[in-house]
Amino acid sequence: MKIIIFCACLITFVLCQKRAILSPDIDPLSDLMVNKINSLNTTWKAGKNFDGYTIDEIAKLCGVKRLERSSDEFGRIEVEVEPYIPKTFDARSAWPHCPSISFIRDQGGCGSCWAFGSAEAMSDRTCIKSNGRVKVILSPEDILSCCIDCGYGCNGGYIEAAYQYWVEEGVVTGGLFNGTGCKPYKIAPCEHHAIGPRPNCTDEITPACEVQCQSNYRKTYLEDKHYGLNSYKIVANVSQIQSEILRNGPVTAGYIVYSDFANYKSGVYQRHSNVTLGGHAVRILGWGIETGVPYWLVANSWNTDWGDKGYFKIRRGVNECGIEDHIVAGIPKN
Ligand SMILES: *[C@@H]1O[C@H](CO)[C@@H](O)[C@H](O)[C@H]1NC(C)=O
Ligand SMILES: *[C@@H]1O[C@H](CO)[C@@H](O)[C@H](O)[C@H]1NC(C)=O
Ligand SMILES: *[C@@H]1O[C@H](CO)[C@@H](O)[C@H](O)[C@H]1NC(C)=O
Ligand SMILES: *[C@@H]1O[C@H](CO)[C@@H](O)[C@H](O)[C@H]1NC(C)=O
Ligand SMILES: *[C@@H]1O[C@H](CO)[C@@H](O)[C@H](O)[C@H]1NC(C)=O
Repeated sequence: MKIIIFCACLITFVLCQKRAILSPDIDPLSDLMVNKINSLNTTWKAGKNFDGYTIDEIAKLCGVKRLERSSDEFGRIEVEVEPYIPKTFDARSAWPHCPSISFIRDQGGCGSCWAFGSAEAMSDRTCIKSNGRVKVILSPEDILSCCIDCGYGCNGGYIEAAYQYWVEEGVVTGGLFNGTGCKPYKIAPCEHHAIGPRPNCTDEITPACEVQCQSNYRKTYLEDKHYGLNSYKIVANVSQIQSEILRNGPVTAGYIVYSDFANYKSGVYQRHSNVTLGGHAVRILGWGIETGVPYWLVANSWNTDWGDKGYFKIRRGVNECGIEDHIVAGIPKN
């Protein structure tokens, strides 16, 4: 297999106008793919995250649907740009009294990323707005199983609809599988590597909606609901997205996963594949510049041993994989 490099830039790879695209014939989960990526000397390092998996099993985790209706219908807004935007920002250190910001979850073998990416940013924002008084871990389970308009459960859903559910129906608390809160996640964490302590990921079905909290939880389902005041989609503009995060906390982002993303280990991701696996949803919690390359700092929901301790960085300012074009957020009611 031949690596096709469209540009021969002498200075640094990232300044090239055209990116290197690896042959779509290379098995994306093979050692060959990892080696090809690493030999590009690109802005990130590849490794084996999903050893023993098929690419279809990974595609299943990418459960974001794009709203086919006009995006303006959901209220794509312009955000007022802050007079000072720092060169680097990390919500974990900006709001250390909000533990949800540094909480990495595991969606298991279910295409529920849209519920995770949404519940995560909602939790952070609820804490931030209350100055740390309301520390919550909101429940992806509640959104995944009880939001009727959100789409197809474990087969994918809409971020915008998840936020609307928060505004209209509220979201109860709930953490990891077997965890705390009103409705912890019903699907067990699974091994996003083949060699690890957890059971292998299997194809999960959407859990049934339960309108009650787990036994011995101190509140009723309705008492435990936390609401959004509003929700909106932000225009694809870096300084506006940054200003939104500075003011109100992390945002939910949807983007297109290309097959090489499965191998991300560290550095600033940019795609070198043109094979798409589907839409994925994540939480953007900051930004920075690494060896001259601007990036977004992002939390994934594939457990802490995926990628860079559960996080990844992705190129900022070029709408990499469409990430700047699908930013959703909202203001909590509390
Ligand atoms: C993907 O990239 C290969 C080169 O590696 C090219 O031959 C092919 O046409 C591209 N496919 C698409 C859909 O862009
Ligand atoms: C990558 O870097 C190595 C070592 O610096 C060098 O030998 C190799 O030619 C570089 N490859 C590319 C594609 O630039
Ligand atoms: C998980 O999958 C890997 C790779 O297919 C296989 O080697 C391993 O035996 C599986 N583990 C379990 C517990 O089924
Ligand atoms: C979840 O709880 C059940 C029942 O208490 C226990 O058997 C199981 O090992 C727990 N699983 C995890 C991943 O904590
Ligand atoms: C982003 O939005 C700001 C504020 O409206 C505007 O001044 C700036 O030109 C926009 N940037 C781009 C790249 O469009």
